[in-house]
Amino acid sequence: MGLGEGAGGAWRDAAVREAVRQGLVTAERPVAGLLDVRAVRGAAAGLRAAFGGGEVLHAFAVKAAPLVPVLRLLADEGLGAEVASPGELALARAAGVPAERIVLDSPAKTVAELREALALGLAVNADSREELARLDALLAAPGAPRDAAVGIRVNPQVGGGSIGALSTATETSKFGVPLRDEGARRWLVRAYAERPWLTRIHAHVGSQGCPLELMAAGVRDTYELAEEVNRAVGGRRIRTVDIGGGLPVNFASDDVTPTHHDYARLLAARVPGLFDGRYGLVTEFGRSLLAKSGLILARVEYTKSAGGRRIAIAHAGAQVAVRTVFAPESWPLRVAVYDARGLPKGADAVPQDVAGPCCFAGDLVAVDRMLPRIEAGDHVALLDTGAYYFSNHYAYNTLPRPGVYGYAGGQQADGTPDVVAGVRFATVRPPQTLDELVAEGGAARVADLSALR
Ligand SMILES: Cc1ncc(COP(=O)(O)O)c(C=O)c1O
Repeated sequence: MGLGEGAGGAWRDAAVREAVRQGLVTAERPVAGLLDVRAVRGAAAGLRAAFGGGEVLHAFAVKAAPLVPVLRLLADEGLGAEVASPGELALARAAGVPAERIVLDSPAKTVAELREALALGLAVNADSREELARLDALLAAPGAPRDAAVGIRVNPQVGGGSIGALSTATETSKFGVPLRDEGARRWLVRAYAERPWLTRIHAHVGSQGCPLELMAAGVRDTYELAEEVNRAVGGRRIRTVDIGGGLPVNFASDDVTPTHHDYARLLAARVPGLFDGRYGLVTEFGRSLLAKSGLILARVEYTKSAGGRRIAIAHAGAQVAVRTVFAPESWPLRVAVYDARGLPKGADAVPQDVAGPCCFAGDLVAVDRMLPRIEAGDHVALLDTGAYYFSNHYAYNTLPRPGVYGYAGGQQADGTPDVVAGVRFATVRPPQTLDELVAEGGAARVADLSALR
């Protein structure tokens, strides 16, 4: 789906204005996450359309937005969930995602987690030879499920993208069974041949920063291994190929590029056999489904000048934008400026820093950026932050998790917001209270350390 600059911007502006007018962002609660529900539905529908109607499970990567109502919204749109921890699994279950639509990936699954996953009937991707040995033991035990959905995650070792920390198919990556290492291919073919229950194969080449051709090369190598296994076994041992997620997001403008369609078309060209009906498919997209549907809206508390630089001190910093603050070259964000009533500020751009509320000097979300002149009481919006930002809080300075609100509303024939129908909000997550923060900080155990001698 393509949110045009006009439609996206007008909706965003209407949502910001209404969020301010309806008191979702105030002096007392100076930061919130806003999620465009219509755009989320559109992105999910676009993904489904891109990969067609065969046997495909689109398992949303819960790490990108660990919020139960978001998982339910995506489940309503036909998506499942990819989980990588007991917490993420609990969220997916709380959202009502059925077990057969949940995939468990993680490099550090405990025996208890594996046992529970098998008992629940989740699909499990073993990350290592050692984990496969644990699964051997669990599946040989009396009462073990007969219809387990188990695969191996391979690392096709096709190389990394522009963000090292998110490149999972490098030669020495911690993820999966390294496919090109000495003897690995032989071991993998034998592992499948010896286990009739090992029916899936998984790869996730990387996330933001990986070129599509690199991702497609990783999928191609994974598919070719599946073909080799099935030839060796003389049948359909591997029936499902899980291609992971990783579609990069354009953080530079409102254009949605590349699209899920672009990627599906490339895969069909590079790995045609994947789509001829012999294999079920699983995808695990996260960022590409939600990033462009979300923004963080924060009040500006002060402005000042230092060494000739204008600085706006706003309430969105590392606590909601941790990657941007600590790795700004890899995670630049667009900043939009609104006035005290939530109306867009126009011309008169000057170079400014936009700083957050955290007590360290690097807590900056934009440096020396040309932006409309910001004043105290204005609002700044960090755009494209619907995935991995307001949902992935960093608890520095005991700053509270902000409220998160979904929005929708009527639209006119030309796609612009219908102000008569209005913008409606639903709370996804209420803002964290001071009492909750104090409880989390151990208030119930206030004297326990003092009592230790
Ligand atoms: C195994 C796995 N699948 C899917 C994803 C989602 O990636 P993205 O949000 O880039 O689509 C990740 C991200 O880390 C992952 O590790």
